[in-house]
Amino acid sequence: MVNTLDRSFVSTSSWKPDLFKGKVVLITGGSGTICRVQAEAMVLLGCKASVVGRDNEKLELTCKELCELVNDPDASMAVPDIDVRNFKQVQEAVDKTLERWGRIDFVIAGAAGNFVCDFNNLSPNAFNSVVGIDLIGSFNIAKAATPALLKTKGAILFISATFHYYGVPFQGPVGAAKAGIDALSNNLAVELGPFGVRSNCIAPGAINDTEGFKRLSDPKMVNKLTKMIPLQRLGSKKDIAEATVFLFSASGSYINGNILVVDGGMWHTGTLF
Ligand code: HXC
Repeated sequence: MVNTLDRSFVSTSSWKPDLFKGKVVLITGGSGTICRVQAEAMVLLGCKASVVGRDNEKLELTCKELCELVNDPDASMAVPDIDVRNFKQVQEAVDKTLERWGRIDFVIAGAAGNFVCDFNNLSPNAFNSVVGIDLIGSFNIAKAATPALLKTKGAILFISATFHYYGVPFQGPVGAAKAGIDALSNNLAVELGPFGVRSNCIAPGAINDTEGFKRLSDPKMVNKLTKMIPLQRLGSKKDIAEATVFLFSASGSYINGNILVVDGGMWHTGTLF
């Protein structure tokens, strides 16, 4: 039997220097913890990163540190004053990225908002805020960037969760929003797939040292939580970086309309944060 693979496959697998050289990623929420490590991974592998968000100071610092990471002042740009709930602002972020680098190959729709609140005390505006940032914000960046992605035959990556696989108390807005994100991603996978654009989600579990984990977990319960995760450890930010690189790399080129759960098997056990 003739081999299916040859040595050329080694150089197209994940985490090779310059894997994303000449490519551009736009990341909403790029200065947050999960999106920040995704930005680092992409930049380390040669990608230019446009980091987009509301918090100007954090964005500028992220951009500076990303450039320092690879010793290249052109490795990253910050696009501040962008609220992902506002389509016009999101379109401006896309336009500024195209003005600077002329292309967008990858989008990470990562801007997220969340808090712990029971349904009785949840105000309509609170629900609206989380759904607005997470779901509408994800739609806005996908919508604004799609013309550019069609040109590069690029890929979109949404950040989902596992909260909507079963009923998680006090997480109504984020569960509803992330369920919508999964549906949106699946829809884009089938509509844009024929044009060469892939759409997928990463659904992180309990990822240590992140804003989400800080907001949701009780420090006193971390040891107990860890023992209940099948892989017996919390997720790390690097686990998210690995999944991101895989999905954007040639290794993931046939993966479309998928939700990659990165949680050590946690959701299967019904374990809560
Ligand atoms: C109940 C709350 C609340 C809380 C805010 N609100 N915090 N309700 N409990 N802890 C209510 C407010 O009272 C208000 O309603 C409404 O929400 C909007 O609040 P604002 O502060 O005016 O809105 P905004 O500035 O847009 O802030 C959005 C936010 C905020 C989501 C509320 O927390 C935010 O900006 N977060 C961004 C960062 C973030 O959350 N990162 C975590 C991502 S982790 P009223 O009725 O009073 O007007 C994550 C995990 C996903 O997403 C899962 C991964 C596994």
